[in-house]
Amino acid sequence: MNLINVGLCGLGTVGGGTFDVLQRNADIISQRAGKQIRITHVAARDLPSDLDLSSVKVSSDVMEVARDPNVQVLVELIGGYQVAYELVMEAIRHGKHVVTANKALIAVHGNEIFAAAKEQGVIVAFEASVAGGIPVIKALREGLTANEVQWLAGIINGTGNFILTEMRDNQSPFEAVLAQAQALGYAEADPTFDVEGIDAAHKLTILASIAFSIPLQFKKVYTEGITKITAEDVRYAQELGYEIKHLGIARRTVEGVEMRVHPTLVPKSKLLADVDGVLNAVMVQGDAVGPTLYNGPGAGREPTASAVIADLVDVARQAGTGYRLPPLGVEQLNERITVLPMSEVVSGYYLRILVDDRVGVMASVADVMRENNINIEAIIQKEPNPDQKQVTLVLLIQEVKEKQMDAALEQLQQLPEILDAITRIRVEGLGS
Ligand code: HSE
Repeated sequence: MNLINVGLCGLGTVGGGTFDVLQRNADIISQRAGKQIRITHVAARDLPSDLDLSSVKVSSDVMEVARDPNVQVLVELIGGYQVAYELVMEAIRHGKHVVTANKALIAVHGNEIFAAAKEQGVIVAFEASVAGGIPVIKALREGLTANEVQWLAGIINGTGNFILTEMRDNQSPFEAVLAQAQALGYAEADPTFDVEGIDAAHKLTILASIAFSIPLQFKKVYTEGITKITAEDVRYAQELGYEIKHLGIARRTVEGVEMRVHPTLVPKSKLLADVDGVLNAVMVQGDAVGPTLYNGPGAGREPTASAVIADLVDVARQAGTGYRLPPLGVEQLNERITVLPMSEVVSGYYLRILVDDRVGVMASVADVMRENNINIEAIIQKEPNPDQKQVTLVLLIQEVKEKQMDAALEQLQQLPEILDAITRIRVEGLGS
């Protein structure tokens, strides 16, 4: 049987999982690939004691793998931007195919990496970079290739979803849940990437690029994390029939493309609202197929290894056949489609406003909305405790342009009866 030699860089959570699953399922993987996929060279800063590395070459410098003439595919699982970028470019220069789980690398340097890969006639595969074990990249570039994608919306950070779920179910403190996610290997090396939405923005950049055939434009993603979500907001959202989810949303409109990551109220009737814990899910609306949903584990040792190995099998099937998948599943990137600024995005809104409990306060708020041509869909006012002079108003606002909402919020914030910064969370009907 043909052999394909793999160099594995990084033996952390995903690297160790890839090593294990490749060994455990070696027979079925080889049958499906039509070649025996074997790891011949590994490189890592720290060597784990639980892996039997006796039959492979071990280096401490990852660049040795990129330059090893016996390696045909380099698997990059070291993470980060700088060394990973140099490593991948060196591997491409040496004519090697690359498989990576590194979303930051692809989102930030992907345009350059794919151009170099095209030049060298090698494949760069990155299924594991988005939504862990869910084959959503394959679905978008292959299964849905007949469709014009109208929009996609996804829970694409497992750590964030885990935290929001625990906040809703157990009122657990934020820090404790984050520490749990770190111990389970879900969180990024720098967990602010998870909770500030940067990790989700990396993944959304990749999904939007494939869905709309546009270049990777990470810097244009509007990014807001989950750190300001309070247990109170989660409770009020529930009362109104919604769950708060941290979504990555990409939408094609006549004016351009929206790319945004932010906490979002999702109607409880939608399947995405039921995706809890570390699970991820991506909903894709195609013009021919309609709504589709891809759901599964978005992080973790073996789920991510499952996607890495799927890419290895893809590469093994194509290597040496002369057939090359274009790097992003698109031959011609459409450079002219603009990314809309957040001010032009249309959305519904949830507002939580702390006000002085006095006559006419509700009317003042409603006046500002009327002046800005904004329609209030629902309003809740909780009865204050007898000794309190403050009351919380919760409003649901019908879809308006963000700049219209910004103007109204600025005006509201000037009212003397409004006592604190107003909380604003966007609301998405997701096709309803
Ligand atoms: N930190 C990421 C997450 C890992 O929590 O989803 C998978 O990309």
